This record gives sequence, C-alpha cells and structure tokens, in this order.
Amino acid sequence: MARLKLAVLISGRGTNLQALIEACADSAYPAEIALVVSNQGDAPGLQRAIAAGVPAQVINHRAFAAKQAFEAMLDAALRNARVELVCLAGFMRILSPWFCERWRDRLINIHPSLLPAFKGLETHAKVIEAGVRITGCTVHFVRAAMDDGPILVQAAVAVASDDDPVRLAARVLEAEHRCYPLAVRLIASGHVRIDNERVVISGAVDAPATVLINPTA
Ligand code: GAR
Repeated sequence: MARLKLAVLISGRGTNLQALIEACADSAYPAEIALVVSNQGDAPGLQRAIAAGVPAQVINHRAFAAKQAFEAMLDAALRNARVELVCLAGFMRILSPWFCERWRDRLINIHPSLLPAFKGLETHAKVIEAGVRITGCTVHFVRAAMDDGPILVQAAVAVASDDDPVRLAARVLEAEHRCYPLAVRLIASGHVRIDNERVVISGAVDAPATVLINPTA
C-alpha cells in the first residue's frame, strides 16, 4: 500500500523530526517523509534530514515582505512534493487562518503540555509555577487559534517537587518522541476521523489500563 507522504516543518534542533525519521525507516510504517522545511537556515534539524537522505528546503520567512507571501511559497513547496500530511515539529511561526484552512485536517502539531492547559511558550516554567503534579504533551490537528484544535494523542508526565524547566522538558520530550510517530501512524492507517471537532480513533487502540497518580502514596 502507498505510504502517506509527510512534510515535517521545523525551526530548530529537530528531535521530533528525528523520531519521525526513525519511525519511517521501518518499511512497515504507513508513512514516509517527502519533505522537511525549515524557516531557519541554521536549524540543526536540517542536518538530521540530510543525514537520513530526506529532501530538505529552507524557506526563510525573513526573505518575504508579508506572511502571505511566505506561506504561499510554503504551500507551493508542499504541493510540489505531493505532501498529504503536514507535521509541525518545533516550527516556531504562527500560521495564518488562510494556511490553516488550506491544510485543514491535514496539518498537525506537537505541543509540550496537556492541552488545552499551558498554551504558548515557556510551557515548563509555567507548569512548575502553577504547581501542577502532572503535565505531558499533545499531538493535535491545527486550527487558526494558537495551540488549538482536535486532540489526537496525549501522554502524561509526572512533575517532581524539585523539577526545573530543563529537566522537566527532557522528560516531556521523551514522551513527545513516542507520541508523534504514534499519531502519524494512526492517521496514515486510516484510524482517525474528526467528528464535531473531536477526534475519534477506531479499531486500533485499547484504552490504557493504568492511572498515573503523583505523588504515589
Ligand atoms: C518540542 O518540545 C515541541 O513540543 C515544542 O518545541 C520543541 C521542539 O523540539 N513545540 C512548541 O512549543 C510549539 N508550540 P525539537 O525541535 O527537538 O523537536
């Protein structure tokens, strides 16, 4: 069966891109990366794409006078590569309503919190400041509002009393690397539909039996 063609959009180090590259290296995985795009010419993630032999392109938003022109170029690159699903992986530009509509239900993002809590930047510092005991990560379909849209996969990560944002980020990142390939696999194997702005997953997964309690008593 044909594998779903992905684009992965990055701005930085690209560890989630790496997780997707590794998943796609398995010929049984139902997706392949057709294109990596970075809006930053010096993003370390570009080297990961090159090392894996995946086509990579820089589209520098600063080279365009208006966001619309940047996004038109991005859109053309995605269409040229016959991309079917766009995965934002640490892509630090807010996409316009035009772009989000054009790729509606074919555009997903990973965010390092349990959405809808802790949208935006400095997530882990805000989590620690708020004193919550459990955080995590979310893969969701993208809508025009920031860090908003139907939720596909989440993982929970316990917050330790003495956590700092760097240590917490590292543990959440491990969870991200498991969630993103899972989310793509679910979509690529046809198990996902969106019903009334909620994701329905059919036939593929059992509900996890465990409950995470922090602190354990
Ligand atoms: C990840 O933690 C991702 O969740 C976050 O940026 C990091 C990218 O890391 N994304 C956001 O905060 C988007 N709102 P990576 O470049 O190593 O994949």
